[in-house]
Amino acid sequence: MIFTVAIDGPAAAGKGTISRAVAARFGFHHLDTGLLYRAVGALGGDPVAAARGLTAADLARDDLRSLAAGQAASRVAAIPEVRAALVEFQRRFARREGGAVLDGRDIGTVICPEAEVKLYVTASPEVRARRRWLEVGGDEARVLAEVRERDARDMGRAEAPLRPAAEAVVLDTSVLTAEEAVAEATRLVAARL
Ligand code: C5P
Repeated sequence: MIFTVAIDGPAAAGKGTISRAVAARFGFHHLDTGLLYRAVGALGGDPVAAARGLTAADLARDDLRSLAAGQAASRVAAIPEVRAALVEFQRRFARREGGAVLDGRDIGTVICPEAEVKLYVTASPEVRARRRWLEVGGDEARVLAEVRERDARDMGRAEAPLRPAAEAVVLDTSVLTAEEAVAEATRLVAARL
């Protein structure tokens, strides 16, 4: 069975939680596409060469989850040649036998416009910054500033800017619990299977 669930949205909106839960529930493969850009940013050097030569080992580094890695990712993610180098891998993953969930910024708009289910998971910057701060600690005001900076860069870039796909269902996790958001995503997938 070929079936793609595209989940987009800004940082710390709950995409990861929802994606993992949906993948587990239906036995689908899951790809966190932010990890690709984080790995490219963390490798340093020429980001285009890094994107073209990305390996599984590059994706397994433990330092990819930090705020700094997120900022580096969003900088290299604005480079069209970096994005182009990662398209084929993501499209092949999306059409893998057995179903696939991909989460990122441009899955429903650019990578898989034909996805069977498209979700846009969002929440207010304050709610997202609070969640990130509970994970990483430090100065909460600085975490909020970083969230806003990353939103502005991801939404404002010329290439594949973050925005809901035309047919995406919007889940606002400022007003939904994780359980409610997962239940709604699961319901939408089950309705299309
Ligand atoms: O989702 P995550 O926070 O790991 O993503 C890190 C950065 O990678 C994002 O801020 C964004 O700039 C970039 N990204 C992207 N397209 C995707 C996934 C992530 O541009 N599909």
